[in-house]
Amino acid sequence: MNIWVPWVQRLADQGLAGAEKAFSVAQTTTGDALRTVRFLRGRQRFQARDEDIYVATYPRSGTTWLQYILHLLKGGADDFTHLSEVSPWWERCMALGYTSAERFELYQSPRVFKSHLPRQWLPQKGRFIYSVRDGLDVAVSYHMLYRSHLRFSGDFSEFYQRFLNGEVQYGSWFKHVEGWRRVAHEPNVQLVSYEDLQHNFVDTVANLCRFLGWSVSPDKLTQVEARASFPAMKAQEKKFDPITETLMHQGLYQGHFLRQGTSGEGKAVVTEAMRAKFEAACSVYYAHPEIEFDLPAFLH
Ligand code: A3P
Repeated sequence: MNIWVPWVQRLADQGLAGAEKAFSVAQTTTGDALRTVRFLRGRQRFQARDEDIYVATYPRSGTTWLQYILHLLKGGADDFTHLSEVSPWWERCMALGYTSAERFELYQSPRVFKSHLPRQWLPQKGRFIYSVRDGLDVAVSYHMLYRSHLRFSGDFSEFYQRFLNGEVQYGSWFKHVEGWRRVAHEPNVQLVSYEDLQHNFVDTVANLCRFLGWSVSPDKLTQVEARASFPAMKAQEKKFDPITETLMHQGLYQGHFLRQGTSGEGKAVVTEAMRAKFEAACSVYYAHPEIEFDLPAFLH
């Protein structure tokens, strides 16, 4: 056997590995750049309206629940294949080219958008409902979503470290929540908590209606509470789950987007040491008012 063959093969393999890495970096960078440009272009052309409503959240904080509640309060029916038809994800639709700023014009007011963006990237006009959920519960729920939807196979402690470092989609929970808390005093911003919705649905939603200037009867609130209950939504989960059948063919599976809908799971799962790291991460953003957000991270 020619002694040069293994050596040449190794060299070729190293070259290809280098090229693969470079192309992979280029692909990610190009993908990020393309989404960012599409989004920025859409944002510039978007005609904001005073009546627009944005359900803004860090993921796993009750976004879908609130979107659906608002849809029902508006008198909407369940005649959609996916919730995004009646309540689109503002930045993602434009970033991925699913829709355009012009097509948003066709929606009747009040339009209800979903967003995971920090306040700075959203339009000036509109009303903003920001939902906050216990951070530890968010971490648990997000870990499960990473496993069911994002091909993550690590255990909770591995994910938790990433979560604390903000090395997950949409960045740091601590930074996100703190950023919105700082604008909570603005008249067109209303904070709501997932736990309040869970334990005191009627009063919490009535309060949201007051913020929106909607008058809704007690009967209607009770009806909406039943239709937007966890079991009722779970029964038609496909309408809320972003995974389509096509994605299932790629090795992802449905049935886990609306997982349990409970509070306190996080506290039960974390150790004292993990909890201490959580508290420490919280204090970082209180101490640093000069928050900057990296836009591409929000456009996946
Ligand atoms: P769990 O994973 O803890 O079950 P988002 O829509 O922001 O991604 O939030 C998803 C979380 O909200 C999931 O939490 C989901 O089950 C919960 N959720 C959705 N609809 C709910 C409802 N009607 N009641 C309670 N929780 C709900």
